[in-house]
Amino acid sequence: MAQIFCITNQKGGVGKTTVTVNLAAGLAKVGQRVLMIDLDPQGNATMGSGIDKREIETTVYDVLLESASVADARIRSEKCGYDVLGANRELAGAEIEMVALDRRERRLRTALVSVANDYDYVLIDCPPSLSLLTLNGLCAAHGVIVPMQCEYFALEGLTDLVNTIKQVHANLNKNLQIVGLLRVMFDPRITLQQQVSEQLKAHFGDKVFDTMIPRNVRLAEAPSYGLPGVIFDPAAKGSQAFVAFANEMVARLAAKKGGRAPARSAQPAAPLAPVPDAAGPEVVSSSGDAALLAAGTRTRPAEAEPSEKEVQGER
Ligand SMILES: Nc1ncnc2c1ncn2[C@@H]1O[C@H](COP(=O)(O)OP(=O)(O)OP(=O)(O)O)[C@@H](O)[C@H]1O
Ligand SMILES: [Mg+2]
Repeated sequence: MAQIFCITNQKGGVGKTTVTVNLAAGLAKVGQRVLMIDLDPQGNATMGSGIDKREIETTVYDVLLESASVADARIRSEKCGYDVLGANRELAGAEIEMVALDRRERRLRTALVSVANDYDYVLIDCPPSLSLLTLNGLCAAHGVIVPMQCEYFALEGLTDLVNTIKQVHANLNKNLQIVGLLRVMFDPRITLQQQVSEQLKAHFGDKVFDTMIPRNVRLAEAPSYGLPGVIFDPAAKGSQAFVAFANEMVARLAAKKGGRAPARSAQPAAPLAPVPDAAGPEVVSSSGDAALLAAGTRTRPAEAEPSEKEVQGER
């Protein structure tokens, strides 16, 4: 049964889509069956997986409004090695249309039940907001992966995100966990980034993934070719980091279950049956709760490195 993960951060442009498509491609490369769901009307994850958002007729919009099943709407991306439930601008309307509907935050969860055995992993790329679309992703998921740039305002936004996840956990989806925080677009030469990275480690402990995704121009170029960086240029530093991240994910989940990482199929996930409304345990580790995090956001790093040039042209 599929493990379902949301890639979420309400901040825009932090690397959610890049993480989603590259993790999907990385997991596919190590033999996992993957469905990538684009929950963002921008359709970047769809385009970045080689599917033209302007040409698809059946999308996640139809799935949310129950005019199509996931099996009807999914498209195979042969180049990327995974299935895509695509999105385009039509999805922006779903936000408004769903408000009046029943089970409006559980529609994706319900729709995924019928394909849960077709995949080892379902990855959901969320829009840059804590909207009804994101809520559908969080209700459907077993875990949340939070891509973060190591800068001051990133920590501020994390408090809101952690609180939202806690509320969803308490009221809508008791399976929901923060799987981890992924440091992305990381440049070790920038002192501020090192400081924020240290703060994250101090406050969230092992909830911070060991793998760091470097700032790498090949990852930024790949979407214009309709490919994740992992496929576009497997030798690039950024691509190698994503393959390492895919392996870390598989190993982490296996270790959590107390077993070995399987050759192909990941360990079984909790069933997707509706969950009762109930408060559960903390969704983040005790060393990483929201209060501690809030304290962290008040600790402004002493100084920023004067040179914050991006690494351009580097593989
Ligand atoms: N590790 C990286 N190195 C270099 N560029 C990157 C990296 N990760 C992402 N980018 C670039 O940064 C920009 C924003 O990334 P991306 O679209 O993945 O963010 P996002 O969080 O999905 O944005 P949005 O909030 O609009 O959905 C893109 O141009 C992308 O190519
Ligand atoms: Mg995006």
